[in-house]
Amino acid sequence: MNELFPFQVEPLPYPYDALEPAISQETLHFHHDKHYKTYVDNLNGILSDFPKLQNMTLEDMLIHIKDLPEDIQTGIRNNGGGVYNHQLYFQCMQGDGFSMPEGDLSNAIHKDFESIDNFCRILTNTAIKQFGSGYAWLTFEKGKLTIVGSANQDTPVTETIRPLLCIDVWEHAYYLQYQNRRADYVSNWLPLINWNYVNQLYEAAQG
Ligand SMILES: [Fe+2]
Repeated sequence: MNELFPFQVEPLPYPYDALEPAISQETLHFHHDKHYKTYVDNLNGILSDFPKLQNMTLEDMLIHIKDLPEDIQTGIRNNGGGVYNHQLYFQCMQGDGFSMPEGDLSNAIHKDFESIDNFCRILTNTAIKQFGSGYAWLTFEKGKLTIVGSANQDTPVTETIRPLLCIDVWEHAYYLQYQNRRADYVSNWLPLINWNYVNQLYEAAQG
């Protein structure tokens, strides 16, 4: 998340067929190679005219979006958010095996959501009920884990709110396989969560 302009399409951390059958390689090719790449290209296109912004990290741009030139705020929110959100989405899935929250993160989930099952239930409801396109997130702020939804390519990141996990519920994330059955996509997605990666973000968020 600390890279600078020109932003690059980050390769997937697993093969395209690694998430099957939950997410098909066809879906992943379109999602990563087309949709995500378009956000990267659009973001670079916007920033190419603003040399002063080219030494800002993407996260800084999103956190301080109201300080950016007014005529590019929407473009950065949509395309910069599109890059940021997809990078986390692809990273927080794993292609080999199955993991569960452990250690301090597991304790925090039990403290803030009572149980792993209840965490999954709230994340699922947030993802299913997100109206239109958007995401459901696990975030951490001031010692507390929270699940939130976001519309379009908005991201919850701020100086103090750290995103740890997100599920993309844009139709492009699931429509080829699941058509209108978003709930089936979400339930098949949950076992893909790479809890080791989420744990790294959780530890970093605690400073
Ligand atoms: Fe997406």
